[in-house]
Order: sequence, then C-alpha cells, then structure tokens
Amino acid sequence: MAQMFNQTVAGNSGTAPQKSMVMMSIEKFPVGFSVPFDVCKKEGSTYACVLKKWQKFDQAFKADLKSKGIFFLYVEGDPAKVNQYFETKPAENKPDDLAYAAYSKTKEAFHNVSKLIFTVGSRVNFSIYKILNMRHEPLIETLPEKPVLVTDAVRTANGDIAIKVSDLKHYREYLFSQSKNSASDISTKITSVKECAKMSVRDVLTDPTNAKNIDNAVCSANDIIKILKQKDAALNTMLTKNASDMYIYNHSTNVSVLSVAMALAMGMDQSQTEKLAIGAIMHDIGKKNLPAAMQHKRERLSDAEFAVWKKHVADGVDLLQSQTGLPSESFVAVKQHHERLSGTGYPYGLKANYIRPFGKIISIVNCYDSLTTPRPFKTTMTPFNALDRIMKETTEKGDFDLELVKLFIKILKGQGRL
Ligand SMILES: [Fe+2]
Repeated sequence: MAQMFNQTVAGNSGTAPQKSMVMMSIEKFPVGFSVPFDVCKKEGSTYACVLKKWQKFDQAFKADLKSKGIFFLYVEGDPAKVNQYFETKPAENKPDDLAYAAYSKTKEAFHNVSKLIFTVGSRVNFSIYKILNMRHEPLIETLPEKPVLVTDAVRTANGDIAIKVSDLKHYREYLFSQSKNSASDISTKITSVKECAKMSVRDVLTDPTNAKNIDNAVCSANDIIKILKQKDAALNTMLTKNASDMYIYNHSTNVSVLSVAMALAMGMDQSQTEKLAIGAIMHDIGKKNLPAAMQHKRERLSDAEFAVWKKHVADGVDLLQSQTGLPSESFVAVKQHHERLSGTGYPYGLKANYIRPFGKIISIVNCYDSLTTPRPFKTTMTPFNALDRIMKETTEKGDFDLELVKLFIKILKGQGRL
C-alpha cells in the first residue's frame, strides 16, 4: 500500500500550495507508459519535479533513478486517483501515446498566448482556444472580418490558451493596439513585449532567411532592453513559466531578458547590450534543423540523438551569418551558449581564456532557464535548486564565472525569485 503525505510542496513558481504527495516505489511505475500525474523526487524538505504530467516513464529513466540511489518517487494528486492508477494493470490503463502523437501534430497549428494581454470588452478578430487534456477547445470563435468582444471566459480559463498560427498577424495587431492604448497598465505593455518576442522567435525559426523576420527579432530585443530599463519589475512579468508547449519560444525570450538584466546590472553600454540581446533571442535558432520527432520526444535522448542535438549551435551561427546587417558580436552569444570555462561544454570545448564575456553571460542564463523551464525529457528545478547547482558547478568544476554567477543570484534575489 502506498504511503500518503500531506505536506507543503514548493512548486516551480516559488509559491507553496498544500498538496498531497503519494510516495510510490519506482517498481510500481508501469514502464513504457505515460504517467497522468506530476512526479517528484524529494530534495531535503522540498520536492523537485522529475516527470511532468503525461511524460513517459521509460526503462532508461528507471535505470537512471536506480543509478542515483532513488527507489521511491512522490506522485502529486488525489490519493484515491493515484492509488487507483497504480493498482490497475498497465495494459488496462488508457494508452495515450496515440493521443499525444495526435496532439503533437495538432499543436503545430496553434500558438500559445498569454491570458494577461486580453481585456474583457476589447475586440478581437481571431478565435481563442483553451488547451484541456491535449485538446484545443474554442473559447471564442470568429473570423477576421467579424470582430467580437473578449469575454471573461478568456481571462479565467483554466490552463493555457492558444490561437491559430494562421491568426498571428491579427494577434500582432491586437497586441499593438493594447500596448498603444493609453488606458493599458504597465503589466499589459510588458506582456505585449514578451508576446511579440515569442512571435519573433517563431518567425525566425520558421524562416531565418526572411530579412523581415530578422528585423522583427532585432526590434523585440530592443523592446526588451527598453522595458527592462523603464521598469525594474518587468523582469518577473517577462519570465513566466507556463505554456511548456512553447518551450523554445519562451526559453529564447527568457534568455534574452535575463542576458539584458545581467548587462544592465554590469553597466554595459547600449550598443553592447543590444548586440548581446540580439544574440540571446536567436541563440537556439539552429534548432530549426532538428527533426520534429526529436523536438517532441518525451523520452531522454540517446547518445546518437544528443550528438545531432549539439549541432544546433554551429547550425545557428551558419544561419545567422548568412544574413547581412547582424552585428558579428551577436554570433558569439550563439556560438558559446553551451560552453563551460572548464572546457567541458559543447560543441567546441573552449576553455576560459577563449570564452568571451557574451559567452560567459549567456552560458549562465541559458543553463538556469533550461533547468527551470519544463520540457519533455528534463528534470524541472526550482530557481533555488537550479542556482545551487550552478554555484556548485562553478566552485567545484569551474564551469562558470564566479563573479557573474554571484551577480545573477543578486538580480534574481532582488526580484524576489529566491
Ligand atoms: Fe542551445
């Protein structure tokens, strides 16, 4: 019989809602099946998510847990439902692989958006959907030529909301009208910058050869600098962590936001800050060349797949170098975002003296955001645990610049994120 604990759980958001955690032997997890709950491991008095809801518990993951001496996990949810799931034979659990495969395909036609940008009573000329149980269900259905009023259902919808990719143009116009509206509060303006940045990343990844897409990404990088200079609190609003389907768009935006925050704290001049922000927002552009199946994969990548994955760095530099007008310093941020001062990074294995300031900054913020943002095959960590790990890797292995890590911690502390 599984043991049940009712304890305060520190979630990713840093808040601590009261949740039930059911302790479960890893032997009880059906191998090869997706788990319909978030699953955590215990870290001191808190829990760290190791498997997001609907991720697959596979043999490699189980072996990895055993190798780390982890034989029990904590399943978050209604204890009755959790126990029912684990007491049911695996073959009788509803297989969801087909549903996930269908969802992975369907979601390509959608773009997740922020609820915060919508004002009840304003007009939209595009449909809005809520995402529930891997399905997109309409909240508002309309056509470009038939604007309708935004209802409360959009602001209060549970979970993420999305629009169709074919409506991005109309959504951009809506964002523009919202941010220009003098009645809009500062948080609407900040959200608008973030939403525009996410779209710019999508456009660049879709077609990096289109000069207009590159220009829009450069504009977004400049808007991030402007809003962070204008309003200190903008950093927190910009770093939202939901919408894991949009990992690469959120992550690229976050890395640019955090790089700019570092540049401003270091007193970097405007020109250098711009070059860093541009490189940061496009640092993962090379992932455009990765097979879609690899990007949607819920299991850990094999060694062979990881070798392919690493190529996104050089591919990104190649894609950007084919564009004219981009500052060459921005390429450094792209080129060195996975390097480590100890020489253990990739793809070049550069050592400290060969890693430039942009590389030192972006490698820290990229690592932090990767550790704290949910994605298919990685453990999600709390900001505290992620920084603890980065600090350990700095002091024990010499991976990162100690003074920059200290500054980064100071910035996040100042924002109340620790
Ligand atoms: Fe990367």
